[in-house]
Amino acid sequence: MSDTTGTKGRLEGKVAIVTGAGSGMGEAIAKLFASEGASVALVDMSEAGERVADEIRQAGGTAQFWTMNVTDEARVEQVFGEVFERFGALNILINNAGVAGPTEPTDKVAFSDWETVFRINAGGPFLCTKHAIPYLRQTPGQTSIVNMSSIYAIIGNADVPVYHATKAAVRTMTKTDAITYAAEGIRVNAILPGTILTPMNLEKARQNPGYLEEMQAIHPLGTIGEPNDIAYAMLFLASDESKFTTGSELVIDGGFTAQ
Ligand SMILES: NC(=O)c1ccc[n+]([C@@H]2O[C@H](COP(=O)([O-])OP(=O)(O)OC[C@H]3O[C@@H](n4cnc5c(N)ncnc54)[C@H](O)[C@@H]3O)[C@@H](O)[C@H]2O)c1
Repeated sequence: MSDTTGTKGRLEGKVAIVTGAGSGMGEAIAKLFASEGASVALVDMSEAGERVADEIRQAGGTAQFWTMNVTDEARVEQVFGEVFERFGALNILINNAGVAGPTEPTDKVAFSDWETVFRINAGGPFLCTKHAIPYLRQTPGQTSIVNMSSIYAIIGNADVPVYHATKAAVRTMTKTDAITYAAEGIRVNAILPGTILTPMNLEKARQNPGYLEEMQAIHPLGTIGEPNDIAYAMLFLASDESKFTTGSELVIDGGFTAQ
C-alpha cells in the first residue's frame, strides 16, 4: 500500500498465504500484512475472500484470492503451487481458517460432527503445513508458519467441547513442527486468542442479548478483543522481528487466563 513516509513495511518483499481470509481475524491479518508490504494470497471456502482481496488492491496493496477448502488436499496442493508460481516465493503461512462446531456436551455429540470439526480445525492446518513446507524450503531466508489455536487449548469450558480439543491439537502440532523444521529455518508458532469480536461471536451476541456485556465483565481489561489485536501479534510472528521465536504460544486474552 502507499508509503508516504519512505520507511519500509515490516513484511516488505514477503509472500504470505492466509487461510480463512474472507472474514474476522483472517481478513484483518490479510489487510495488515498487505499494508506492511507483503503480497498476500487469500484463501477461503467463502467467496467473501474476493471482496477482501479487492479492498486490499484498491488500497494499493498486492493480493489475490483463491477459493479453497482447507480439508481438500488436492486443492490445497494445487493452490499453493499456483501461489508460488504467481509470486515466486512463500515466506509465511497463516493457518487461521476454523469453525466453532457443535455446542452439545460430549455425550450428545455425533461422531460424524466430531470428525468434521477435527477435519477443518486440525486437519486444515496439517494439510496446509504439509503442502507449504516444500515452498517455504525453496524460499531463501527464514520463513514462518503461525497457527491459530485458542486459550481453550489450555483451559476447559463447557460450551463447544470438540472445538477446544481441536485447538489443543493445533497447539501441540505447533511445537512438534517447530522442532522438526527448526534446522531448516522454518519457524512455527501459535497464537491463543481469548474472545475476539468477529462474525463468529457477533452471531452469538445476536442470539443471546447481554452476551457481549457478560463477556466484557469477566475480562480483567474490561473488554473483549478486536481482530487487529490478533493481527498485530501475527505480524510480529510472521516477520523477521521474531527470528529467535519458534515453538512458542502467545496468549492474547485481555488477562482472562491470568485469573
Ligand atoms: N473469534 C474468537 O473469539 C476466536 C477465539 C480463538 C480462536 N479463534 C479462531 O480464529 C480463527 C478465525 O476465527 P474468526 O472468529 O475470525 O472466524 P470467522 O468465522 O469470522 O472466519 C473464519 C473464516 O474461515 C473460513 N473457513 C471456515 N472453514 C473453512 C474451510 N474448511 N476451508 C477454508 N476456509 C474456511 C470461513 O469461510 C471464514 O471466512 C478460527 O480458527 C477460530 O477458531 C477465534
